[in-house]
Amino acid sequence: MKTVRYGIIGVGYFGAELGRILNEQEGAEVIAVLDPENGEKIAEEFGCDAETDMEVLCAREDIDAVIVATPNYLHKEPVLCAAKNRKHIFCEKPIALNYADCDEMVKAAEAQNVTFMAGHVMNFFRSVRHAKKMISEGKIGRVLYAHSARNGWEEPQPEISWKKIREKSGGHLYHHIHELDCIQFIMGHATAVTMTGGNVAHTGPQFGDEDDMLFLSLEFGNNTYAICEYGSAFHWPEHYVLIQGTEGAIRIDMCNVGMTVKCADGTEERYTVHETQKVDDDRLRIYHSTEMDGAIQYGHPGKKPPMWLHEIMRKEMICFNSIMHGAPVPEEFRPLMTGEAARAAIATADAATISLKENRKVFVHEVTDRA
Ligand SMILES: NC(=O)c1ccc[n+]([C@@H]2O[C@H](COP(=O)([O-])OP(=O)(O)OC[C@H]3O[C@@H](n4cnc5c(N)ncnc54)[C@H](O)[C@@H]3O)[C@@H](O)[C@H]2O)c1
Repeated sequence: MKTVRYGIIGVGYFGAELGRILNEQEGAEVIAVLDPENGEKIAEEFGCDAETDMEVLCAREDIDAVIVATPNYLHKEPVLCAAKNRKHIFCEKPIALNYADCDEMVKAAEAQNVTFMAGHVMNFFRSVRHAKKMISEGKIGRVLYAHSARNGWEEPQPEISWKKIREKSGGHLYHHIHELDCIQFIMGHATAVTMTGGNVAHTGPQFGDEDDMLFLSLEFGNNTYAICEYGSAFHWPEHYVLIQGTEGAIRIDMCNVGMTVKCADGTEERYTVHETQKVDDDRLRIYHSTEMDGAIQYGHPGKKPPMWLHEIMRKEMICFNSIMHGAPVPEEFRPLMTGEAARAAIATADAATISLKENRKVFVHEVTDRA
């Protein structure tokens, strides 16, 4: 088997672990990293080169694909640089913080005929794939409504991470685009959005400037709807996606970890959210411990992802690496591999942002038509 050679731009919490996982794969090797803070250290760990110039890394003839795991507001430049140099790309979520940037990135990858996979981890949850399969087989009938929540309480922070600064992370909605993306994968693209919310309990020097309470009301144009809640001003933590159909309902609970299918005859079936009960149990332990910052566990350079996340990152890298080796893209993942699904999620998030700012319902085409 030939070896696919990778370069990684941004080797903090996530980029370094994606690199470790790749180096464990057959036919994959990280041969260069670039990160002004952590590059040298991780290059030493990997036994690879530490580049200092993005153009040089992306132009290297011995690099086939580039992993982009910089902070959210710094994804666009490396993605465009990698595409220009005809390298395949895996980019962490959210791929960018506005639709126009996403569109430019998707088109650049398309023009160079390279893969542009987005790190939307929920697509690799056992439960999400299982739910999609059951829905396609008609288990819960026609999907009418979805409800997601990713809510918790944030305590004062000793230092303010870029993840808490609206301009750098996009705030809860963009930084945790997963649930919105998951709902759009199941229900199609939203056509109109209304968002309310604001920063209700987290102002001052020990907090970032993101809104800590966001409520999105989504319409899909065919008498189907969704509600998404996000934030860090909720003392009752919740983290789930609930899908309601004409014949039943599916609830994927990531806080009280488990998946429940309610069938039309009133019976319930239970499944794991992740690959095994052991992984679900480990996630349950984390969610019910003091390790959380709200409904979120924020990573930082040097920290290791929890078991459930590591398992998903491994699945993502196996998928990406196998496509790099010529495996066909599974139909289920096609829009994930071109950046299109990621762009569609940001289109809806942008419509929501305009809605909050202008205090009105916004059609998603108002965002996409502008680009
Ligand atoms: N899918 C998930 O569940 C998940 C979880 C965590 C993080 N992420 C995403 O991964 C990305 C990285 O997040 P993280 O948690 O690793 O953050 P982090 O702060 O731990 O790491 C970011 C790294 O990027 C480096 N960096 C900053 N500017 C750079 C530049 N111009 N060029 C190269 N490197 C640069 C920093 O020095 C740091 O080492 C983000 O987009 C984040 O949203 C995804």
